[in-house]
Amino acid sequence: MDQEAKKRSLRMITYGLYILTAKDGDDVSAGTVNWVSQASFAPPLIMVGVKKDSHLHEIVEKTGHMALSILGSAQKDIAADFFRPTNVEGSQLNGHEFEFSPEYGLPLLTETPAWFEARVTDAVMRGDHTIFVAEVTGAGVRQPDAVPLVMRETGWFYGG
Ligand SMILES: Cc1cc2nc3c(=O)[nH]c(=O)nc-3n(C[C@H](O)[C@H](O)[C@H](O)COP(=O)(O)O)c2cc1C
Repeated sequence: MDQEAKKRSLRMITYGLYILTAKDGDDVSAGTVNWVSQASFAPPLIMVGVKKDSHLHEIVEKTGHMALSILGSAQKDIAADFFRPTNVEGSQLNGHEFEFSPEYGLPLLTETPAWFEARVTDAVMRGDHTIFVAEVTGAGVRQPDAVPLVMRETGWFYGG
């Protein structure tokens, strides 16, 4: 295989950017992810590629629950704040206000335009990331007119 072509073509896949959160008691984990897609109409399934050796992976695998806060087009700075280790201080997660999701009590960033929480139904464990398939069981929209943040416009890449 032409490695350069593989890299360039995979990097042409279009992604958004999201803050993935999970919680096991007092143990909270949050990170910026881009490998996210809807995967079924009914039931409403999503799939997320989660790094196998991450703390996020450990908690999602253990609890079977996850939440995604969807970043808006002007929220690249928030994405950058979640490449760092998770730090909870009062009502803030890595310096950003959060509240708990209604069903599973997972952190949701209040600044972001929309969110959903989901229950893991399947996990494909192959390679260095696990594909968690999860059913969306709750969702909310705070800013209906918001435009989502697109990975390409950040100049960042993940994989390829
Ligand atoms: C541009 C970019 C995109 C990323 N996308 C993902 C992703 O889709 N899935 C993932 O597991 N990690 C992704 N990461 C890495 C996570 O942000 C990081 O592993 C996460 O914060 C968890 O860290 P931990 O190891 O401390 O739990 C991405 C990193 C960057 C820089």
